[in-house]
Amino acid sequence: MKLFALIFLIIPCHVLPFEFITGSSFLIGAAISYFYGSDVVKVGQKIADITFCYSGVGLYECCGKPWIKNDIDGLIADLKQHVFGQHIAQQIIPSAIAANFYKIKPTKPLVMSFHGWTGIGKNYVVSFIAKNFFKEGEKSKFYHLINSRNQFPLEKDAFIYQEQLKTWISSNVSFCPYSVFIFDEVDRMPPGVLDGIIPFLDHHEIFNGVDYRKATFIFISNTGASLIMERYFELWRKYGKTREQMTLNDFDNIIIKGAFNEKGGLQASDLIDHSLIDHFVPFLPLERSHVEQCIKAELEKYSVNYDKDIIQEIMKVVVFGPKPENLFSNAGCKRIGRRVSAFVQQKKLKGSSEV
Ligand SMILES: *[C@@H]1O[C@H](CO)[C@@H](O)[C@H](O)[C@H]1NC(C)=O
Repeated sequence: MKLFALIFLIIPCHVLPFEFITGSSFLIGAAISYFYGSDVVKVGQKIADITFCYSGVGLYECCGKPWIKNDIDGLIADLKQHVFGQHIAQQIIPSAIAANFYKIKPTKPLVMSFHGWTGIGKNYVVSFIAKNFFKEGEKSKFYHLINSRNQFPLEKDAFIYQEQLKTWISSNVSFCPYSVFIFDEVDRMPPGVLDGIIPFLDHHEIFNGVDYRKATFIFISNTGASLIMERYFELWRKYGKTREQMTLNDFDNIIIKGAFNEKGGLQASDLIDHSLIDHFVPFLPLERSHVEQCIKAELEKYSVNYDKDIIQEIMKVVVFGPKPENLFSNAGCKRIGRRVSAFVQQKKLKGSSEV
């Protein structure tokens, strides 16, 4: 073990590529652990981390500071500034991430499930989690965005996918305990695929030699969206609650029911049975004022002058429903970016032809 430590200390980081170092550390670690047990590997990895990551000389992304930054204040600020109309998500997400990160001994990995219509900020929120958790943001090699529809397209192959996913996750987490996995469009995933990873999400200190407790798993889906809207109306009409008075608890059971009954990856999934999902986060449908905020934010990117009339003109193409109140934008803020850019182009063209 001393020899092992020594090797790590004498090889300067900038001389050898990180892949070579991890590769050789793995081989040496594997050889030593064959004789002395797997703890040596962990000690070796720690030494590598300390030498190449914490010292700050490392040019390669490692599983430690400064690469894993988990900037909670940054996340709170980003969600406040860029995400409109999602006060429940804004409250629960940073505190859940902070709790799991700073707790010395969490009992299980953090597992969250985001629900609601498209275009209302679920993926947007995830991009800010990546940005503030990793120095490299979404490009981090410890960040895994898994598109369920593209990566697991065929229902008949569910079992193969299940095995594949198990291998991916266990090897990625053994490489970096702070790995973050996002499963987009879980509702498009064949049922059963996720059941293979249940043991990883459960309360285990260590499962098959891998400690999953610092990892984060987020499931994104549209399931429960209609139920969220119905519940919104109920809270509003029956209980006289304003949007801002609505809380996580108001929606909890509703989403669990929705996720359980609607088609898709979480359908009748043991994930829900086992209560492994720590937080079901409702994303509320967006109202007129939120869409206006999206438009303003987009316009500001082009640093053009705008007034109320311009916003109203862009608002004309946004469809609201359901009848009779027409309270919510059907597609949230989706396509607003494209509409604003088209509008700005048009105005510019007009301007130049007038000259
Ligand atoms: C880590 O996860 C990614 C999916 O994001 C996968 O493509 C890759 O093969 C995994 N790595 C290992 C070593 O299994």
